[in-house]
Amino acid sequence: MALLPILCYPDARLHKVAKPVTQFDAALQTQIDHMFETMYDAKGVGLAATQVDFHHRLIVIDVSEEHDQPLVVINPEVVWASEEKTVAEEGCLSVPGIYDGVERPSQVRIKAQDGQGQWREIEAEGLLAVCIQHEMDHLMGKVFVDYLSTLKRNRIKTKMLKLQRESEK
Ligand code: NI
Repeated sequence: MALLPILCYPDARLHKVAKPVTQFDAALQTQIDHMFETMYDAKGVGLAATQVDFHHRLIVIDVSEEHDQPLVVINPEVVWASEEKTVAEEGCLSVPGIYDGVERPSQVRIKAQDGQGQWREIEAEGLLAVCIQHEMDHLMGKVFVDYLSTLKRNRIKTKMLKLQRESEK
């Protein structure tokens, strides 16, 4: 097992913009494996490379109950998003314990490479659509709390910093 440390909001590194993945090699596969292990261990449904301080356009996702549908999403681009939007309750491994509603397109179609560099399209709705959009935001340096009001965000920031101080004692 190799668990990677997950950056916690408001760490400035969460706002870095990730670069495209260009090398599909053994090192990338190791990074993917470690990210899945880290995500499953933390009981998350998605993890963006940005969250483990690796600033390349790589996401791992598994929204299945059984943890048997791992999805590797590399260099993703949205090709279509529905006009219809849905507000879903979101959380994030980088903002532990915080959940709030975010409005996003209900369905998206993206194109992305897999771990071998093969391009394919992925159609998503429901939780998978939310997860893909949430993780793609991470690659752009955006955390879901950035959608909330300044008041809420500042409260969350204060709470997170307090928790981090307490855990360092
Ligand atoms: Ni997140």
